[in-house]
Amino acid sequence: MQNPASKKYRPFPPIHLPDRQWPNRVLTAPPIWCSVDLRDGNQALAVPMNVSQKLELFDALVRCGFKEIEVGFPAASNTEFAFMRRLIEEKRIPDDVTIQVLVQAREDLIERTVESLVGARNAIIHLYNSTSPAQRRVVFGLEKPEIVAIARRGTRWVRERAHRLPGTNLRFQYSPESFSATEVEFALEICEAVIDEWQPTPDKPIILNLPDTVEVAMPNVYADQIEWFIRHLRNPALAIISLHTHNDRGTGVAATELGLLAGAHRVEGTLFGNGERTGNLDVVIVALNLYMHGIDPGLNLSDLNALRQVYERCTGMTIPARQPYAGELVFTAFSGSHQDAIRKGLREREAALEKGRSPFWDVPYLTVDPTDLGREYYEVIRVNGQSGKGGVAYLLETEFGIELPKDLQREFGPIANDEVDRLGREVRGPELRGMFWAEYIHRSTPYQLLGFETEGRDGIVKCRARLLIRGTEQTLEGQGNGPIAAFVNALIAGGVPKFEVVHYAEHALSAGEAASAIAYIQIRLAEGRTRWGAGVDTSIELASIKAVLSALNRC
Ligand code: KIV
Ligand code: ZN
Repeated sequence: MQNPASKKYRPFPPIHLPDRQWPNRVLTAPPIWCSVDLRDGNQALAVPMNVSQKLELFDALVRCGFKEIEVGFPAASNTEFAFMRRLIEEKRIPDDVTIQVLVQAREDLIERTVESLVGARNAIIHLYNSTSPAQRRVVFGLEKPEIVAIARRGTRWVRERAHRLPGTNLRFQYSPESFSATEVEFALEICEAVIDEWQPTPDKPIILNLPDTVEVAMPNVYADQIEWFIRHLRNPALAIISLHTHNDRGTGVAATELGLLAGAHRVEGTLFGNGERTGNLDVVIVALNLYMHGIDPGLNLSDLNALRQVYERCTGMTIPARQPYAGELVFTAFSGSHQDAIRKGLREREAALEKGRSPFWDVPYLTVDPTDLGREYYEVIRVNGQSGKGGVAYLLETEFGIELPKDLQREFGPIANDEVDRLGREVRGPELRGMFWAEYIHRSTPYQLLGFETEGRDGIVKCRARLLIRGTEQTLEGQGNGPIAAFVNALIAGGVPKFEVVHYAEHALSAGEAASAIAYIQIRLAEGRTRWGAGVDTSIELASIKAVLSALNRC
């Protein structure tokens, strides 16, 4: 890296807007969304989508609820043109959806673009040219008036051809590409020139899309640029102000959100942020950020997994595990304290719902309810060596209906964690259940139960137990005020060192389990040590007897 950095790079000049209003505002409604997946997103793919992939993604965008979709750059290639024609000729565009097409300010390209739109019900022609000092100097070698002339000419060429689309509700969008790196005064000048040329009306406003083509400053600067621009427009009623952010500094979402506070009406972006370099704005994040503040985003993202599959299949891109909302791990807590807090939060919420209350979502560590996005609760907690007993207990309970008593959780938690540490990887519910079964249920030495019978009279229970003790079969008899007490007495009478039962719990197991009940028993030995045991059987009485032996076998 260059040292000092100031010899190579310079700070971005701030916008003079001392009475800026956007920091005092809050968002209360969603913007107009425009998906640019099929254009900006597609241009950024090493292997661009073919027509059938574009059709599949288009249908998914429509299902999501996008009412404006930039479908391509029809003059750029035959594939793009053919895609447009299929959309229109196969009547794949719902009546309430507007397709948008991008074109440069070149007459031949505009001609072909208009041709591609014949028969469309609603369309936006999106014209752009680049306006920043670096683009003017390096790419075009032109001065400001010549750059303005390009925009004016392009707009005129579109206007002159509008009559060729008689059945089309045609709108016009202009982007001063690289807006955020352009002097605000010049961006305004060129947009006013385009407005003069297009002659929009308040019922048919022009869309002025102000792109953060390359992020060059902090998001507050973009918001200042947007607010400055809107405040200086001659007639703001003639324009819909649209944002189009990229993510070079990793703040595309923030720039869009602050740009909305600054007064923009419309947002362009892609699903999951696909796009040039670091990507376009991730529309899913902005939409769900609104949703988590109680604002209906106007997009249906209730099956994020399905949307993700379509996206990955069509674009060949993969979504990083930590991507907000959509990433595989974003509703997963590995740390024990997080797991515990989530579990308590979910329980509290369930209890409130059962009582007929409908509290606001307030579960620690989860900004939204994963089920609202079609994500499953079982994804919330997984277990690795960093997890506490809470995560272990949660998985056993949610996946297998095994409700370990609190104190048994404390005993089994470290046993499971040691095993997970030994494996050196994350484990899922079925493996944890296997560990519990190995530790508690499948214990048959030194004591194994071969048979157990009881008979009771006047509150006294007599038992007769057949056991294999260190390989030798023995029959023991005892009595007590219940089968467990009778069995404990039989064992002690048969020579097992003295112990007492200090804790007992049992419950039915979920339908999927072969056995119907599980019992948990904690015993205390004469010298004060305690041990838990567990037994599973179709008979709850036998489950408890097995639990006593499990505890003894673990001593
Ligand atoms: O990023 C950008 O500036 C663009 C324009 C064509 C709108 O994609
Ligand atoms: Zn872009």
